[in-house]
Amino acid sequence: MAEISQNIEKAIELINNNELVAIPTETVYGLAGKSISEDAILKIFTVKNRPKFNPLILHFANLEKAKEYVEFIPDLAYKLAEKFVPGPLTFLLKKNKNVPDLVTAGSDSVAIRIPNHKLTLYLLDSLDFPLCAPSANPFGYVSPTNPNHVNNQLGDKIKLILDGGECNIGIESTIISLINKPIIYRKGGISVEQIEEIIGKVAIHKFIDENPVSPGNLKSHYSPKITSLIGNIDKIGLEFQNKSIGILNFNKINPNFDSKYQLVLAKDNSLNTAAKNLFNYLRQLDSMPIEIILLEEVPNYGLGISINDRLKRAAKNN
Ligand code: TXA
Ligand code: MG
Repeated sequence: MAEISQNIEKAIELINNNELVAIPTETVYGLAGKSISEDAILKIFTVKNRPKFNPLILHFANLEKAKEYVEFIPDLAYKLAEKFVPGPLTFLLKKNKNVPDLVTAGSDSVAIRIPNHKLTLYLLDSLDFPLCAPSANPFGYVSPTNPNHVNNQLGDKIKLILDGGECNIGIESTIISLINKPIIYRKGGISVEQIEEIIGKVAIHKFIDENPVSPGNLKSHYSPKITSLIGNIDKIGLEFQNKSIGILNFNKINPNFDSKYQLVLAKDNSLNTAAKNLFNYLRQLDSMPIEIILLEEVPNYGLGISINDRLKRAAKNN
């Protein structure tokens, strides 16, 4: 198993030696490696069992530092950054030659993010290069939101997990391309409404990695091992009366089913709470002695749109 600690010095040493370290962010834990080392980048793909057509996000301590890796930073990025950086927003910008092709899977755009977590910002500030960091889960599985999640799945493949506690947001960053007209490529921790308040109407790209031009957002992703279904819980439940059922509810237990295998995302009715609990509860349900997981959609506005996106990707029947 990996060491779980706040040993930043050790993290710096490992990363400089092309080893990987799991790092906390406000969204989910990342599997970080030296972005300018082909050796380290290849390790990321191997440890995650991730296809190489799926590009990686570069993480920086601040937006100014990203200048060295992109053609230029457009005004819209600065405008959004004023409000949301550091935070759960990733910019797709035109890359320059300092970004290895392996990072972007050959694309001429690169994803740039400044995470909002003290420990990781300190780490990034101590390095002279950005960190590549996909979510620290095996490819296709639910993202990790605490050090134990990482240790359970990748603990025998890495040496160190920096302990930053539970992730505050709990859902990955929103990805917005600012290369031409702004387009949202992944719904995430900053809602579409929040972005539109700053820069006006934006387009939304659906299921980007079904399209080979823009890999990433696979339709089936974030999936528990146990068959998960989304929709009208009472109706689907009727079809599976002879199976043991687990339920992920929004704000209350469903009285029509045994309460033993039910979890409630947000007893306080808050979408922030629901996002924070989402991946943890999906993992908990996935370890229960049940045959089916039923997923209830949350109210479809603000962060709820991003949560429903993840629930639908977790489900087999979407
Ligand atoms: O919140 C987050 O963004 C977390 C934390 C660790 O920072 N990271 C994360 O990385 O979610 P990952 O690799 O699990 O998801 C990144 C997504 C992928 O779907 C990838 O295809 C897409 O971003 N992506 C990265 N670079 C891209 C590029 N140049 N063009 C299009 N999509 C890109
Ligand atoms: Mg991921």
